[in-house]
Amino acid sequence: MKLLVMNGPNLNLLGVREPDHYGTETYAGLCARIRSYCEENGVEVDFFQSNHEGAMVDEIQAAMGVYDGIVMNPAAYTHTSIAIPDALRAVKLPCVEVHISDVNAREEYRRISYVRPACIGAIVGHGTDGYLEAVDLLRKHLEGGA
Ligand code: DQA
Repeated sequence: MKLLVMNGPNLNLLGVREPDHYGTETYAGLCARIRSYCEENGVEVDFFQSNHEGAMVDEIQAAMGVYDGIVMNPAAYTHTSIAIPDALRAVKLPCVEVHISDVNAREEYRRISYVRPACIGAIVGHGTDGYLEAVDLLRKHLEGGA
């Protein structure tokens, strides 16, 4: 099983960026933690981060035939992008949406996700551990258990 973990705009600044919302773990630290979790569970994993919507669409398209599933924190594009969920529907790869903060308990506009209808599930407000939960959800889905 091979998964792609995608992160959208400003998530490269994890650790520096608004720690009250996003904690103190750096992006590099998060990737290392996800990688070791995947290794322990026999899952291959690659990472992609971009501050550009089109680059994310390109990466989703390129994932077709290469990955079995996608873990994605689309960041601010969650609340604005139609191109990202369209790309997910086009490639038909199962995707789990992740948000580090509890987007439902913040500004009204963060409650809207255009990406969610194109996903098999969402993990919201569990901090960076949510990425590991998303890996588990995809594993269960791909192994036919969920
Ligand atoms: C976020 C929540 C979004 O509203 C925000 O724009 C982000 C991060 C989260 O992980 O909590 O950049 O996706």
